[in-house]
Amino acid sequence: MTTSSTPEERFEQIIAADSRVEPRDWMPEAYRKTLIRQISQHAHSEIIGMQPEGNWITRAPSLKRKAILMAKVQDEAGHGLYLYSAAQTLGMPREQMTQDLIDGKAKYSSIFNYPTPTWADMGAIGWLVDGAAICNQVPLCRASYGPYARAMVRICKEESFHQRQGFEILLSLMQGTDAQRRMAQDAVDRWYWPSLMMFGPPDEQSPNSAQSMAWKIKRFSNDELRQRFVSMLVPQAEALGVTLPDPNLRWNAETGRYDMSEIDWTEFFDVLAGRGPMNAERRRARREAHESGAWVREAAAEYARKQALRSERAVA
Ligand SMILES: [Fe+2]
Ligand SMILES: [Fe+2]
Repeated sequence: MTTSSTPEERFEQIIAADSRVEPRDWMPEAYRKTLIRQISQHAHSEIIGMQPEGNWITRAPSLKRKAILMAKVQDEAGHGLYLYSAAQTLGMPREQMTQDLIDGKAKYSSIFNYPTPTWADMGAIGWLVDGAAICNQVPLCRASYGPYARAMVRICKEESFHQRQGFEILLSLMQGTDAQRRMAQDAVDRWYWPSLMMFGPPDEQSPNSAQSMAWKIKRFSNDELRQRFVSMLVPQAEALGVTLPDPNLRWNAETGRYDMSEIDWTEFFDVLAGRGPMNAERRRARREAHESGAWVREAAAEYARKQALRSERAVA
């Protein structure tokens, strides 16, 4: 790297060399904006994602299941915090992200706008939703923006535990009574398609993908990641004894890919636009939590103020 190169050239060199862009480095405004959008949406998804499972903590069928579910939901809160911090390094204030979320201006993953009526949903979410999250997120550990990539390394370790706990819940149900097996299959039927939608629209309808790939934020296309996910699920579904609800799903030796039915993208865009079964409820719960937490934030700020004053006096 020569000292005479321009900031733009240095940025391009970092990307070409597969090294990391750090918060103090110059970066194109569009790169910064793309990252802020992606990382804040990701953070919101982790935080809103606590709700469908939080719903079952008081009703988990045993003390062991309750402890595991609590740990899992708490992990998601941690993921949200790492990611909000990563977005803050790009100049986005935390308060604004929170406000945008409760005002309904910010997006989060549509998957969390579906209800969780049965205990088997905890299994299906862990197996399918956290499973899809892993497929999406493992390549992000190599994203070109340093703070994002490093947050993803920690997050992915916990996601693989989440996926296993979901698989294990479904396995126990599948080894249980007929009613339990039906409950597990019903949950898989409801979560399978939304989990495939988590990878986003088909490549030809995904306008931002090419630029994100050129910047090495994204490493694989939506359809490639969806294929990887399905090829991970097929043997696991067999081990569980559940049926993936797609009669057209089969391996195609010629194309080297799984053939599958068309995804119902009308549903995807409806839920994204706020017309999902639980959109309003998720936002209401988030707003309520934020408002009832105001005294904690005030107390923490007051404590910090007093501590600062005390150390000022100690110096004087
Ligand atoms: Fe997470
Ligand atoms: Fe997770």
